[in-house]
Amino acid sequence: MGYFFDDLKNSFDFFLRNMITISRKNYTEKGVNTEKVFNCDEQKKLYSLLKEKYDLSPLYKYNDINFLTNLYFLDIFDKYIFTEKRDVSVLDIGSKNWNYAGSEYIFFGKNADELCLNGIELDAYRLCTNLYNRYEISKFYTKEFKNTNYIAGDFMTHNRQYDYIIWFLPFITEYPHIRWGLPLKYFKPEEMLKHAFKLLNDDGELLIINQGEKEYKIQKELYRGLNISYQDIGEVTNVFSPFKNKRFCTIVKPSRAKPRT
Ligand SMILES: C[S@@+](CC[C@H](N)C(=O)[O-])C[C@H]1O[C@@H](n2cnc3c(N)ncnc32)[C@H](O)[C@@H]1O
Repeated sequence: MGYFFDDLKNSFDFFLRNMITISRKNYTEKGVNTEKVFNCDEQKKLYSLLKEKYDLSPLYKYNDINFLTNLYFLDIFDKYIFTEKRDVSVLDIGSKNWNYAGSEYIFFGKNADELCLNGIELDAYRLCTNLYNRYEISKFYTKEFKNTNYIAGDFMTHNRQYDYIIWFLPFITEYPHIRWGLPLKYFKPEEMLKHAFKLLNDDGELLIINQGEKEYKIQKELYRGLNISYQDIGEVTNVFSPFKNKRFCTIVKPSRAKPRT
């Protein structure tokens, strides 16, 4: 029987969410107070380093937790991605409400004359606890960013080439996918990875972050199954991490990787 009834319920709810849209006042957040938000000297030190290197001004309108989350992601990009491209296209897969869009915009926009930043989310109309849906909330996180688009849709039907693809916490086992409220027909870890690889430009990079040792191991099996070579970064963390589970990173560069045909 497996997830038969959960899948039936998720499929029905997913259909309803995509039919019903409510309009209301724009979502907004009380900006961060940088005098109070840091809880240790290490955080202050890393914040100063990032501030020297990047224009963090878009992040100050985010609330405390989202401000710190964006610093967490920015530091990871800073450590593991190298970009000097002047004309850059970036895709974020499974953006949720895209509360970390700022970190991507700041990082990839730093040296770029032209940045196109897209975030794609299958379940864009799911309501959050504040009764705004993800799509509405994402407008707040991206509203000052040029050429930045939150796309409500299925990544499998998205076809554009990118220099960078960022993929935080792909669903690679059924259980979290079902718990997240998604219909099983969208559970396609291998096809999605293959598709992500296909959308990468030859000199592009795909960065994947997995949660927990088990998913990290499965991720590497997926690469091996598709004959995609990858750089194994291992555990990634820093003083801003708000996450209780360990996170692990792998990077794929098509110039060095070869998918199964
Ligand atoms: C575990 S969440 C991660 C959210 C976000 N990246 C983060 O790190 O906070 C995975 C997200 O991928 C989305 N997703 C799953 N399948 C998708 C697909 N085929 N196309 C676009 N988004 C998808 C889910 O709806 C969910 O929001």
